[in-house]
Amino acid sequence: MLSNDEKLIAVTGATGQQGGGVVHALQAGGEFKVRALTRNPDKHRQLADEVVKADLDRPETLEAAFKDAYGVFLVTNFREAGTDEPKQATAAIRAAKHAGVKHFVWSTLPNVEAISGGKFDVPHFTGKAKIDRIVKEARFPHHTFVIAPGYYQNFVGTLAAHKQADGSVGWALPLDPDVRCLHMGDIRELGNIVAGGFAHPDEAGNGEYLPLVGDFLSFNEIIATLNRQGHNFSFKRIPKEVFAGSFPGAAEIAEMIGYWEAHTYLGSGSSDRIALANKIAGTQPTTFSTWARLNFPVQAA
Ligand SMILES: NC(=O)c1ccc[n+]([C@@H]2O[C@H](COP(=O)([O-])OP(=O)(O)OC[C@H]3O[C@@H](n4cnc5c(N)ncnc54)[C@H](OP(=O)(O)O)[C@@H]3O)[C@@H](O)[C@H]2O)c1
Repeated sequence: MLSNDEKLIAVTGATGQQGGGVVHALQAGGEFKVRALTRNPDKHRQLADEVVKADLDRPETLEAAFKDAYGVFLVTNFREAGTDEPKQATAAIRAAKHAGVKHFVWSTLPNVEAISGGKFDVPHFTGKAKIDRIVKEARFPHHTFVIAPGYYQNFVGTLAAHKQADGSVGWALPLDPDVRCLHMGDIRELGNIVAGGFAHPDEAGNGEYLPLVGDFLSFNEIIATLNRQGHNFSFKRIPKEVFAGSFPGAAEIAEMIGYWEAHTYLGSGSSDRIALANKIAGTQPTTFSTWARLNFPVQAA
């Protein structure tokens, strides 16, 4: 049997937020050799012990990418134009199985279609959830599902505050700001759960679902946290139809927000899973308040 320091973990998305966190946590743990996978290995030579080319749209690249790997972390990127997540994931699962991978970790999301009885259509959640069955049926000796929360990083990225019609700076969303429904976290910390899962397959490698949750807040609590730190953000609730027509892609975001409000981000009954994820990670995830103090600077007026 190989000891962990001889075992190699191949990490997809290694140049991105989720996979980058996984590479970092595996390196910090020092238990495994790390192979970073990217479409552009020449640009990222220093990323890990090995840097190997992998393109999820070109299954022929995956044989070398997963060769001799004990574990694989898979994330697909819904946001990249042209991405077919089921097709990419199926190719990766098949290649990993062919390579003899022992532990497969898939970054999934809740099945909004099942949780909401078909009321909400959020393809980048439900599409990932439907891949879970393919992972299970591949019968790896161990498999684990990790769930990324709403990234804190969105607040300084895709969900940044904007100047509103009344002159204030903040958010206008189709959401009741009093409803506590947002499971959130510092996405770099998903790596702690993934690395812990690879290190503890008996506890985490039997199809467990491990969500990263640093905080669970309403939008008013988010704004109150930021404003206590010196910001002056506003919130306006707007009709779903108005938001859905406001920019390309807004309709799916409106559906997702409607789902959050009705069911919460993770759906119900997630506290046992969150507790197990934190145990496996071996550390408590960062709260929004702590993250914001360090990463969300107050702009001079
Ligand atoms: N934002 C949120 O709040 C949130 C919450 C939950 C889940 N998510 C999910 O997170 C996923 C994105 O993960 P992320 O945030 O880590 O992405 P990211 O930081 O934008 O990085 C994207 C990564 O995907 C890799 N990639 C893209 N297409 C690829 C392909 N064809 N073959 C191989 N690698 C490919 C890129 O690698 P190279 O360019 O180096 O090849 C890069 O490392 C999305 O599917 C999204 O639905 C987001």
